Amino acid sequence: MKNDAIGVFDSGMGGLTTVKELNALLPQENIIYFGDTARIPYGGKSPETVMRYAREDVAFLRQHAVKMIIAACGTVSSVVGEQPFVTDMPFTGVVLPAAEKACQVTKNKRIGVIGTTATVRSGSYERAIRKRCPDVVITAKACPLFVHLVESGYTDFHNPVTRLVAQEYLEPVRQAGVDTLILGCTHYPVIKDIIADYMGESVQLISPGVEAAQFAKACLSAQGLLTDRTTSGKNTYYVSDSPEMFVENAGHFLHRDVDGSVFRCSL
Ligand code: DGL
Repeated sequence: MKNDAIGVFDSGMGGLTTVKELNALLPQENIIYFGDTARIPYGGKSPETVMRYAREDVAFLRQHAVKMIIAACGTVSSVVGEQPFVTDMPFTGVVLPAAEKACQVTKNKRIGVIGTTATVRSGSYERAIRKRCPDVVITAKACPLFVHLVESGYTDFHNPVTRLVAQEYLEPVRQAGVDTLILGCTHYPVIKDIIADYMGESVQLISPGVEAAQFAKACLSAQGLLTDRTTSGKNTYYVSDSPEMFVENAGHFLHRDVDGSVFRCSL
């Protein structure tokens, strides 16, 4: 069991931001990734649909030998919230580890949350933060265009379109005086520099993928499930749409070549 893979899923390729952190923290672990590229985006869909997709994604990962499942998708993590979802093996989404971290780092008790429409509508971050830190003021803002900008490669620090959209979305969050901002969607860490530049140096950005990877490491360690492999682990990717498109764009998220390890599958 300890040499089984960590299963990670997302609505598409954004979850690779979490895989990147897992590879850095746990280089000997094998990772099996499922990206539902045929059905992305999840972020504008109803909770019922997101939940149905998430169950199908998990069922796919279960066809492989996995010892833990991580929902890297901010939208799925938000819709699942704190309800029991996968109970027979370790499981985490990205919301709770990120909420925990935000509560630890905020000094002025003003936290911003940005994510997809479904994530913000779900109120998941507010609930998770308030449970840990009841007196915090939270400013949440849906930033749906960011996903399309990142997927279109508009990620350069000087890109005028992305900068303009960032200004439009982030102005009320900046006005609220937050000192901590949760990047509550898989794609946002890719444009972290633009977001950081607009928010200013005094605002600490939290990347949920980083926090989820750290949580996964602690969780596997506590349960004696870390691999005893001494060589590098390998990543295997499954996608529900064209592997070629995935190979082409994966570099934005992972900064590593995935060619040769991406396979098409149907749910
Ligand atoms: N992976 C999604 C999230 O983190 C973004 C893309 C989508 O809308 O499916 O919320």
